[in-house]
Order: sequence, then structure tokens, then C-alpha cells
Amino acid sequence: MRAPALIFLLSLTPMLNGSAAPDAVLIEAVSIEPDVPTWDGDADDAPPTRLLIEPPRVGMSTRQTETFVADPDEIKFAPPRLADLPDNAWGKQVKYGRDLFVDTQRHARRYVGNGLNCVNCHLSEGRMVGSAPLWAGYPLYPLYRGKNLRANSYQERIADCFRFSMAGTSPTWDSPEMAALIAYSQWLSTNVPTRGLMAARGFPGVKAPREASHGRGKIVYQTQCAVCHGANGRGVKRADGTGYQFPPLWGWDSYATGAGMDKLTTGAAFIRANMPLGKRNSLTPQQALDVSFYLKIQSRPWDPRIGWFSLFIEGPADG
Ligand code: HEC
Ligand code: HEC
Repeated sequence: MRAPALIFLLSLTPMLNGSAAPDAVLIEAVSIEPDVPTWDGDADDAPPTRLLIEPPRVGMSTRQTETFVADPDEIKFAPPRLADLPDNAWGKQVKYGRDLFVDTQRHARRYVGNGLNCVNCHLSEGRMVGSAPLWAGYPLYPLYRGKNLRANSYQERIADCFRFSMAGTSPTWDSPEMAALIAYSQWLSTNVPTRGLMAARGFPGVKAPREASHGRGKIVYQTQCAVCHGANGRGVKRADGTGYQFPPLWGWDSYATGAGMDKLTTGAAFIRANMPLGKRNSLTPQQALDVSFYLKIQSRPWDPRIGWFSLFIEGPADG
């Protein structure tokens, strides 16, 4: 290849990689999703709009600029921008936590047993309201959880997502990975208004008029989900082999039985608030519940609490 052509091609390569892309390319990311509420008060007293500068590197970009967290008239919160991180040891640790979160396959491969990244369920780098944003959960720990009937540290909570959602093993509590994930969560929650925490945390609930049916769920799946996640639920891999473009919803590369997503109502709540990607809240609560049930009857990695001896004792609590 001639030198000028080669230089031209090389100059394009940063654009192919979200994390290295220059700001000019990222201006695109500034659009506000129509279903994200926008400020309609007096322009003068509106808090400054903070933009999510870097689109998620893995998965399709899900954009969020700012969000109401409690009273729509009063409190708004937008997590800080990656571009504003200082270039010091702390900034590096936070950045590492963010990299772990969006590209877990690369940065924490040995702890992960499936094909997922944290960001596949905690959209927009853990910022998105409606998909358990890190900034709304972090400040509440240590927190009581029904899953194990005691107060859990934040490390313990992260460990559970490694064990169940990532079908893997957790980094130890004093590991650099754990420290970085904590630093990242803490940084995301900079100046979050306390009153807003509970409002924004987790997933909005769903209430459906009828009992869940996996038969109806299958129809929802085939018409609304299969186009991205594949007719067989196994997801679609990237052409360059670096992981999934569309993550799997069942099979060995998916989350384990007993993960939050495997709970009928939690799955339905996530799905309704986030899926089909780009059309959040378009399913009826009933459709979300039905398709969640359809996912639940599929095969996936075993609940890590279950061993052969479980054949003889009562199974673990759901969720
Ligand atoms: C336009 C493509 C698209 C459609 C349609 C779509 N999804 Fe997704 N889905 C994605 C992508 C991409 C992600 C990962 C998001 C990320 O990483 O930012 C995802 C993530 C998920 C996850 C969490 C990650 C995982 O693999 O477990 C679930 C569950 C899910 N989708 C369920 C559904 C269901 C149910 C439907 C149909 C109602 C659906 N999706 C429709 C693209 C899609
Ligand atoms: C398959 C989907 C999935 C994946 C992948 C996933 N999580 Fe989660 N995560 C969940 C669900 C579902 C919940 C919330 C469960 C609930 O609200 O009961 C959750 C909750 C959390 C919480 C607590 C949030 C709160 O408000 O209390 C943290 C922290 C967390 N996840 C971190 C991680 C990290 C770190 C990773 C990657 C190592 C990860 N998650 C991967 C589904 C997932």
C-alpha cells in the first residue's frame, strides 16, 4: 500500500475504538434519548447539562445525559464525566474500574465464567437509570439483603454479580480489581443527592394483570428480541472475536440460575426499562413478564450454590 493511503487509514483507526476516540467524533453522543426526561424549567436556573462523553465501548451505545432522581421539579443528577478525571493515581484507579466494568472479558477474564460484561446489564457504563446504576446503589452499602439475610458490604454485592451474573468467581476483597470497581462506583456517585438514591436505585417494578406465560413470552421473544439476541438466544459474536455484539440470554455464556436477572420480576423489570434496546418501555408489563418467564425456562449455568449434595437437601432461596 502507498504511504499516503496507509497514513489515511491509520488516522481512521481511533474512530473504530470508542475509548480512544477523539472528542470530535464523540459529539454525536450528545443526543438525548426521547424517553429520557429533559429539563423544561427556566433556562437560567437549569443546572449545567453534563454529557456522557464516552459511549460504552462494548455493546451498543446507550446514551444518557442527565436524569431526575427524585422530585422532577427539584433534583437532578448527572454522574461526572470520564474526561474530567484528574491524571493522577486516583484517576487511574477509577479509569481502571470503568474499564473492568465495560470490558470485563478483557480486564478480569480469569474471574468470569460466561461471555458477559458488567455493562451488558448495567447500561451506559453503570450510569443508566432503570438498569441498576452504580451511583444509586453504592452510597447505600452496607445494606441488608434478603438473598443472604444479613447486611452486605459493597464488596460482597459485587462478588455476587461475579458469581451469579458472570457465572464466575469473585476477585478477593483486597484485590486491585475490587478496589478499582469500588473507586469507580464511588466516583460515579460524586455529589449524588441523598434524597434521590432510593428513587433511582435498581429497576422500576412491573405489575402485570395476568400470570406470566412462557408461551406468550416465546412470541414476544421471537418478534422483539431474536433479531439481536439470535433465534437460539446465544447472542451474536463480534466479527473480530473480541466478545459479543449482542450478549447471550441463555446457554453457557449467559448468567447463572439464581442471578438477579433470572428472577421473574427482576428480569421483567430490567427488560421493560431497557429492552428492546433503543425502545425502552415499549413492551407492556405483561409482555415483559412473559418474556422474562420464557428466558427463565431456558438452560444456563448452574446456580453456584448448588452441588451434587443439593439433590438431598432443600434448594437455595430464589434470587
Ligand atoms: C436492537 C438490538 C436488541 C434488541 C431488539 C433486544 N436487545 Fe437485549 N440487549 C442488546 C444489547 C446490545 C445488550 C447489551 C447492552 C450493553 O452492553 O450496553 C442487551 C442486553 C440484554 C440483557 C442483559 C444482558 C444479557 O445478555 O443477559 C437482557 C436480559 C436482554 N438484553 C433481553 C432482551 C429481551 C428480552 C429483548 C426483547 C424484548 C431484547 N433484549 C431485545 C440488544 C438488543
Ligand atoms: C446478567 C446481568 C448482570 C451482569 C452481567 C452484572 N450484573 Fe450487577 N446486577 C444485576 C442485577 C439484576 C442487579 C440487581 C438485583 C436486584 O436489584 O435485586 C445487580 C446489582 C448490582 C449491584 C448492586 C446495585 C444496587 O443498587 O444495590 C452492583 C454493585 C453490581 N450489580 C455490580 C456488578 C458488577 C461489578 C458486574 C460485573 C462484574 C455486574 N454487576 C454484572 C445484573 C447483572
